[in-house]
Amino acid sequence: MEAIKNYISEHKERFISELIDLLKIPSVSADTAFTQDVLDTADAVKKALTDAGCDAVEICETDGYPIVYAEKIINPGLPTVLVYGHYDVQPADPINLWTSPPFEPVIKKTDKHPEGAIFARGACDDKGQMYMHVKAMEYMVRTNQLPCNVKFMIEGEEEVGSSNLAIFVANHKEKLANDIILISDTGMIANDVPSITTGLRGLSYVEVEVTGPNRDLHSGLYGGAVANPINILTKMIASLHDENNHITIPGFYDNVEELSTEERAEMAKAPFSLENYKNALDIDAVYGESGYTTNERNSIRPTLDVNGIWGGYTGEGAKTVIASKAYAKISMRLVPNQDWKEITDLFKKHFESIAPEGAKVVVKPHHGGQGYVTPINTVGYQAASKAYETTFGKKPIPQRSGGSIPIVALFEKELNSKTILMGFGLDSDAIHSPNEHFGVWNYLKGIETIPYFYQYYTELFKK
Ligand code: BES
Ligand code: MN
Ligand code: MN
Repeated sequence: MEAIKNYISEHKERFISELIDLLKIPSVSADTAFTQDVLDTADAVKKALTDAGCDAVEICETDGYPIVYAEKIINPGLPTVLVYGHYDVQPADPINLWTSPPFEPVIKKTDKHPEGAIFARGACDDKGQMYMHVKAMEYMVRTNQLPCNVKFMIEGEEEVGSSNLAIFVANHKEKLANDIILISDTGMIANDVPSITTGLRGLSYVEVEVTGPNRDLHSGLYGGAVANPINILTKMIASLHDENNHITIPGFYDNVEELSTEERAEMAKAPFSLENYKNALDIDAVYGESGYTTNERNSIRPTLDVNGIWGGYTGEGAKTVIASKAYAKISMRLVPNQDWKEITDLFKKHFESIAPEGAKVVVKPHHGGQGYVTPINTVGYQAASKAYETTFGKKPIPQRSGGSIPIVALFEKELNSKTILMGFGLDSDAIHSPNEHFGVWNYLKGIETIPYFYQYYTELFKK
């Protein structure tokens, strides 16, 4: 299949410009100001899948944004790969921190991407990575090398919790039936250290509201005599971690899977430089739970983080005021065996119980999902591993990620299939941050590697 390399060099300008066109549409699912753009993106994905040679491409309506579904069934006796991805993106703000506008993609060189990277919101997460699959499909169809059946399911609500996709999956089990699910929506260690993601953390996301007096008050006339919701909220949040940075919610760690010494030793073999890590983030020390390394803290350990906090006066100058209300958005990353609904309940009970007199606390659960770990002794993993070995010249390292794709655990439950996470992004690609980008080399490497997965998977499947 050397031919794939030739195909890429022949078509790479078009591959890049097509992706750039897709990135120009601001498909921000969280913000209703972009509703039409999200819908337009679904149409663009439908067209791309049709052009790539899929049969039966449809826009499946949901109560939210549509799911683009496509398939090419060449022989029911062959295995079926279901490709999942998302065409929605995170909000771009803070816009002023972007060095070029988030929806006007440009290619710029970086230290990690000397051949250039496409800068745009969604470049890596997930439009660029999703589009690698569309182009790999194009290659296999046009050159008559598609070895098995393929189904595509590209959704528009991943960044807001995939709640409508969950309903769609539960209602279309037969349509979505497959032997393996393939997703490129994660990362790898480095361009010369390929890795395959074998785990994702679960998530519980909540919003809290603290109410003190019934109206904003003069902080001189009332200060010191009534509960200040912002003071109270920050104190309550601070109490959620102890001096070892353990989370203090009773029962929080009850079901946490503890890795064996051997498993931790295996994990520690992955190349990692604490110096580079600190330099890249411009921090003089890392911070986290006692007794665990940085890589453990961000993959096999659960966390609790404030993602946003607001209240009172934040405008220019000073205003002396005690606000009536204060708010925070809090995420908890979960590990295998922690149930996100149970954790959400534990949080709610605990947070409400530590509210002092004089303040009212309300906890509003948002979305969440279970964590996921995939074994490496499966045909799917072996096929992916061989594919990387072929195109990178190195065996990939299995690695658990700290991020979450909640729908993956649900796929396993509803469709009874394992997921292979072949991600080609780098941690430094700034997903969800200003200046998100995706290396052109990574994009093309993904397109090159994917067809090998299909080939090896189909071969190994037969055995
Ligand atoms: N693609 C990411 C998840 C990811 C990135 C996993 C890198 C592993 C490595 C996904 O789009 C995402 O951002 N997920 C959210 C959760 C979702 C429910 C909003 C996350 O992890 O915060
Ligand atoms: Mn993603
Ligand atoms: Mn994301």
